[in-house]
Amino acid sequence: MALRNIFVEGEDILRKKAREVKEITPRILTLLDDMKDTMEAEQGVGIAAPQVGVSKRICLVAPDEDTFIEMINPVFLEKDGKQVSMEGCLSVPNKVGEVERPERVKVKYMDRDGKEIVREFVEFEAVVVCHEMDHLEGVLYSDKATNLQSLDEE
Ligand code: CO
Repeated sequence: MALRNIFVEGEDILRKKAREVKEITPRILTLLDDMKDTMEAEQGVGIAAPQVGVSKRICLVAPDEDTFIEMINPVFLEKDGKQVSMEGCLSVPNKVGEVERPERVKVKYMDRDGKEIVREFVEFEAVVVCHEMDHLEGVLYSDKATNLQSLDEE
């Protein structure tokens, strides 16, 4: 188990378009494992590779206790509907804000075995997937939030 440092708003890497993964190497598998450990240690519901300083198109989503998905080179196939919910981000500490997202998305991605998967996500799962995929484009939720609020620190 290895934890990686979380990069926070202001770091250039969070604003870059992440690069496609060409080959699933042992380094990529280690990155996936480290991202999971880091996400869990930080009690996040998702994490994207740029957040740990790696500009690659990889993200993890864990919207509930029973769901954990690793996505390599994810692309949207469909987006439908609208929902608004409160979001936060490990890379934008101590803030929350409301963001409008699609209600349902269909995404194609590769798993760690290189298998192509197509899966639909609805409600909160769709929020997490869209949030993490935005990181791969260099977009933070705080760019889209209508009422970004600072949480009190005590
Ligand atoms: Co985030």
